[in-house]
Amino acid sequence: MIDQGTVDRVVETSQAQIIDVVSEFVSLRKRGINYIGNCPFHNEKTPSFTVSPHKGIYKCFGCGKGGNAVNFLMDVEQVSFIDAIKQLGKKFNIHIDEVELSPEQQQVKNDRESMMAVSGFAQKYFTNILHKSDEGRSVGLSYLRSRGFRDDIIQKFDLGYSPEAKAALTEEALKNSFKIEFLEKTGLSIVRDNYKADRFRGRVIFPIHSISGKPTAFGGRILKTDVKTAKYLNSPESEIYHKSKILYGIFQAKQEITRKDRCYLVEGYTDVISFHQSGITNVVASSGTALTVDQIRLIARFTPNITIIYDGDPAGIKASLRGIDLVLEQGMNVKVLLLPEGEDPDSFSKNRNADQLQEYIAANEGDFIKFKTGLLLKDAQGDPVKRAQLLQDIVKSISVIPEQIVRGEYVKECSALMQVKEQVLYNEIAKIIGKSRGDNYAGSNVSKNQYVPVTPPSGAVSTPSFASQNPFEIEERELIKLIIKFGDKNLVKEEEVSEEHPQVSVGDYIIGQMKEDELESLNPLYGKIFKLYEENNHKEGFEAVKFFVSNMDAEVSQLASDLLSREYIVTRKYQENSPKKLDEELYLERNVPKIVYELKMKKVKWLYEKCSKEMMQVDPKDVEKVNSLFGQLTRLNEIKSLLAKELGNRTIV
Ligand code: CTP
Ligand code: MN
Repeated sequence: MIDQGTVDRVVETSQAQIIDVVSEFVSLRKRGINYIGNCPFHNEKTPSFTVSPHKGIYKCFGCGKGGNAVNFLMDVEQVSFIDAIKQLGKKFNIHIDEVELSPEQQQVKNDRESMMAVSGFAQKYFTNILHKSDEGRSVGLSYLRSRGFRDDIIQKFDLGYSPEAKAALTEEALKNSFKIEFLEKTGLSIVRDNYKADRFRGRVIFPIHSISGKPTAFGGRILKTDVKTAKYLNSPESEIYHKSKILYGIFQAKQEITRKDRCYLVEGYTDVISFHQSGITNVVASSGTALTVDQIRLIARFTPNITIIYDGDPAGIKASLRGIDLVLEQGMNVKVLLLPEGEDPDSFSKNRNADQLQEYIAANEGDFIKFKTGLLLKDAQGDPVKRAQLLQDIVKSISVIPEQIVRGEYVKECSALMQVKEQVLYNEIAKIIGKSRGDNYAGSNVSKNQYVPVTPPSGAVSTPSFASQNPFEIEERELIKLIIKFGDKNLVKEEEVSEEHPQVSVGDYIIGQMKEDELESLNPLYGKIFKLYEENNHKEGFEAVKFFVSNMDAEVSQLASDLLSREYIVTRKYQENSPKKLDEELYLERNVPKIVYELKMKKVKWLYEKCSKEMMQVDPKDVEKVNSLFGQLTRLNEIKSLLAKELGNRTIV
């Protein structure tokens, strides 16, 4: 932890020196009071990337990215907030005071550091052996070359070789004063009583790098074909390596993923490496584990667009099918590409250059419905039972998509492809969604959802709490973004302020409106943003962007920088109206209330639906209940038409 005072100092200094910070990455020219250059976040020939030294911000009018000096560094270097602060602290000679840790925290930190150190040592050792020792060259290096890997690629991935000898690495590390405890904890050595041995004996080594490029684990491939041992051996879970949270190649891919706004997902180490060799570098692998939610979220930090590329064999198909729903559930855009039978991305990319590969992918990737139908429809022809199963399968995938608009698009497509009425599909989806909400209510299966149940707004129908997808995510996220980005800005244009139209800040307006209707967010993190804003916005010099981006609560600063640096697929609805096309004042005045009303409308409709359902089930003899429900329905209807009027009056910009 870094104390807030230091964070503030670093943020302020780098804001003031933003030209200095950006110049390290972009060559800037002065134009008027600003500086311009070619945007580092997208390809462009005429510069639209602008830095304002007075405001301490940058903005690209081509791709829309913008923020302060800290955001810039986070984005361009793809590092966390804390790492950006540390780097900037170093640059400006600001001593970073780490908040004192408890003895236990200190112990964990020391352990982690020791493990990182010994991993770093091992990586250098393996690489050195591969290139410098006889055994390494004749066994390891010649194997890699025979597979067609170029030397620059072998180096880029820090590939290595672990000798046959029983404890070569272990002994070398001990000689260099590394403790056996950490060799064991990282899984590099296997230790039993007096027995010490290397885990990866006689294997080619694929280091697994953390997002910031530090080797924290290893995969080792056996070269002999006669031994009965797993082809790949991987480091065990440890304090510094959680295999469900990391993707192989993310460090080498992250910048290109941002630039291309797409991530290719393949199966293994060699697939990633071969793609790089062909010139495609926005690629990662889940290597050896089924894709996890954490891995998808890791990709989501860089892009909402994923293309899953798996082998055309049954195992590959199965693996990609499993991945699809998870990715959809995270609100991401997923495409799928199956390679011709017998090919994997590694073999397929050999002898194809980046253009050819990209062309092939673009021509053959399809959305998941095309993929599933294409895969299974042939099978299902003339077999109504199989056809129904296929339909069920597709409907299930559609129903996990959090965003209603996107769901609608897929329903349309599925309806056309399978020749089924849209309404039938909607009914099926409603059944599935209803069922999963029921499950959650029963207390099971809540864990994979990020939203905790809350009671519905008061005065409303008593509905069971639900923990399923937040149905209001899209609007809520947009409002949160507005608070973070423009919370301290005026909502009303100066010339339009009057008694009737008093000035109010964007944040105060949004929160006021939410409170008025007791619209608590289902997402606890959003609740936190509201609260933080309320507690701090009246403090002297409050600037929303700076406050949230430099917040010590990592969850908050992460969300802030995520929202500021990228437009998610779910916010596409609002993208046409984004400030880059309009001037900011006009944008805020017109759109903030509109989004607020849209959220209210959606919530009212949701409550209405719940209430009607309850009405259908209520015992008609329970007069009191019937009357109360009837009253609520009437009230909700009134609100609905008021809101409709409000929304109708707001011309869509
Ligand atoms: N894998 C693993 N353990 C195994 C087999 C596979 O961890 N016993 C992981 C590795 O990350 C591997 C990926 O699953 O890269 C895909 O497996 P496979 O297709 O068998 O390996 P390839 O990457 O094709 O390796 P190679 O071409 O060297 O055979
Ligand atoms: Mn292979």
